[in-house]
Amino acid sequence: MWWTEKGHLEVGNNQLYIGGMNAVELASKYGTPLYVYNGNKIKGNFERLNAALSAHTDNYRIHFAVKANSHIQIQKLAYDTGAYADCVSPIECRMALKAGLSKERVLFTGTSVSNSDLEDLVNLGVRINIDSVSQLRRLAKLSTKPELSVRWNPGEGAGAGLHSHTITAGKYIKFGIPEHKVLDTFREAKALGFKVVGLHQHIGSGWLGDDVQVFHDSVRRTLNVANQAQEILGSAFEFIDFGGGPGIRYREGQTPFPIEEYARGLIEQVRAEGYRGTIAIEPGRFPVGESGILLLEVNTVEEKNIPIVGVDGGFNTLIRPAFYESYHEIVLANRVESDDRQEVMVAGNLCESSDVFNCSKKELREIAMPEEGEILALLCAGAYGFEMASTYNGRPLPAQVLIMDGKDHLITERGTIESIVGLQKIVV
Ligand SMILES: Cc1ncc(COP(=O)(O)O)c(C=O)c1O
Repeated sequence: MWWTEKGHLEVGNNQLYIGGMNAVELASKYGTPLYVYNGNKIKGNFERLNAALSAHTDNYRIHFAVKANSHIQIQKLAYDTGAYADCVSPIECRMALKAGLSKERVLFTGTSVSNSDLEDLVNLGVRINIDSVSQLRRLAKLSTKPELSVRWNPGEGAGAGLHSHTITAGKYIKFGIPEHKVLDTFREAKALGFKVVGLHQHIGSGWLGDDVQVFHDSVRRTLNVANQAQEILGSAFEFIDFGGGPGIRYREGQTPFPIEEYARGLIEQVRAEGYRGTIAIEPGRFPVGESGILLLEVNTVEEKNIPIVGVDGGFNTLIRPAFYESYHEIVLANRVESDDRQEVMVAGNLCESSDVFNCSKKELREIAMPEEGEILALLCAGAYGFEMASTYNGRPLPAQVLIMDGKDHLITERGTIESIVGLQKIVV
């Protein structure tokens, strides 16, 4: 099983174990759909990131991209290793504060940010990374002028990611300030009396090793803008944030992302260009993606036009396959090593024909053939999994369990009808 190389998933008595705990027993204890995370794996990943960066500089920051998995317990694991937070909404910022982070360690990078968001952020006292000139001008109208950093878009050819939806640099991209406006933005910020302390880029998400070259190209462009911007401002940036993106190994045949090489390459490149301030990165998927699995119970095994294996979750539970045609390894947790492997459609329980856990509805997946009542585990579900879940079709949000040092803890109760209709009103 290629995925045992991840170091925290094992096979014992033909059943799946995560962080030393039996996945089938967890499913029976807490019910399904169930997200299970290995907290030791998360801590280990942050420690690995720290080691990769600290081998080359003391002056770095890891901003955990909270959007990948915002659970406050999981955030706390990150912050315990010294991480800062990258947040995209005022509530994410509040969650980071609730998880124990101090406001100076929270960096907000939003898009289409409203006036009330801006007021909220300024009142919270978190750091603000603007992604539009509009944001700058509207911030200037508030009574307090926060310190700012600027997200720019390094442009065409400088984006990278697993899927077109996850590429965030280039022309048809809404994020950041484009090259032809970025220096004027610094001039305007200075004229408006803002102290600009940083520059930011994020070119996309889910890179494989080949994308590192594209990343270095974007870093070169960013350092070039940084030099010109610092001249305009007359001061050096406190930090340059090079965004997130490092991918994880979702399927056999993909090589693990070369995180140590990436860290060394980034720091060497930045220092060679003469920038001496803080180097920040913003990983989300890398530290938490592999730590989580999604457990689903099989309720239907039937030949229709094609063989169908029906499960008790859908794209409301894990949207990545339906949204990005993403691959998640599907493991029969009860009988991992079964030789009876067949090509099937693993079908969710939503009334949508796109609701399948294969990469697409026309691409059947060979899996160990389950019986009704058995448990399937979808691997690498720790990032952008629960986070993107919804209650579509009246299916409550799944429960979440954290394993830490060989003990299981319920960290999110399963949703109920009350959690769906609780804020609704019947008015006529
Ligand atoms: C601004 C920003 N930073 C960081 C990230 C994290 O990316 P990843 O999870 O690929 O590391 C994202 C993801 O979309 C992002 O938008």
